[in-house]
Amino acid sequence: MIDIHCHILPNIDDGAAHLTESIQMVEQAIQEGITTIIATPHHLNGPYINEKAKIIKAVDQLNEEIGNKGLDLKILPGQECRIYGDLINDYHKGDILPLANSNKYVFVEFSSNHVPRYAKQLFYDMQLAGLTPIIVHPERNSQIMTSPDLLYDFVTSGALTQITTSSLTGHFGKKIKRFTEDLIEHHLTHFIASDAHNLVNRPFRMREALHELESTFGIEIVYQFQENADLVVNGLHVATEPPERVKKKKFLGIF
Ligand SMILES: [Fe+2]
Repeated sequence: MIDIHCHILPNIDDGAAHLTESIQMVEQAIQEGITTIIATPHHLNGPYINEKAKIIKAVDQLNEEIGNKGLDLKILPGQECRIYGDLINDYHKGDILPLANSNKYVFVEFSSNHVPRYAKQLFYDMQLAGLTPIIVHPERNSQIMTSPDLLYDFVTSGALTQITTSSLTGHFGKKIKRFTEDLIEHHLTHFIASDAHNLVNRPFRMREALHELESTFGIEIVYQFQENADLVVNGLHVATEPPERVKKKKFLGIF
């Protein structure tokens, strides 16, 4: 199994604090049945600045340590980039690191309560540059929750999205769980990933989430999400279902 979103690199952001914690996370991931993790440290979010070269070096070091310990899991390089206007310029400069270093898929993060007006144009320009934006955890963005058509427009225009295991399992609350299910049901999301930060309050929860996914939506969607993650690792095209709009009435559930 592949986890495409994880803060497993030591002492680089608000994920694993040190190498020991990274290795403990590797062990937890293996217990969850995960064989490959894309390490996606924050970039340009708060105090965190993690350009491509720094991440690739940290991934090499962690893979070496995993090998030394005889553990069977592979880390690939990635990055979780906060949205900003110069993203494409900085990609051409070599600071932005697409997932699995494959020059195709780039994680883009909004702040938790805002979607900038320039996002649609930026996503369009990224695609002209050969990059596909993957919007991370849209289910946790309050503006998207209030106006799900925003996400519909992004997906219609070629962006992909990734939901979080802990959102589907209900660890971020009932409202976020219900909205996560709405996104799945309306083909507005294409990946599920852990966004794990540590062992305790932000663990993987991959097995639990996939079980939840299967019991609510059936095994096909589990296979689909896993296949999509595999395609991202290999830099290949992800085929999508036509998205549908989430009706506000249904989302609020009170009318
Ligand atoms: Fe993250």
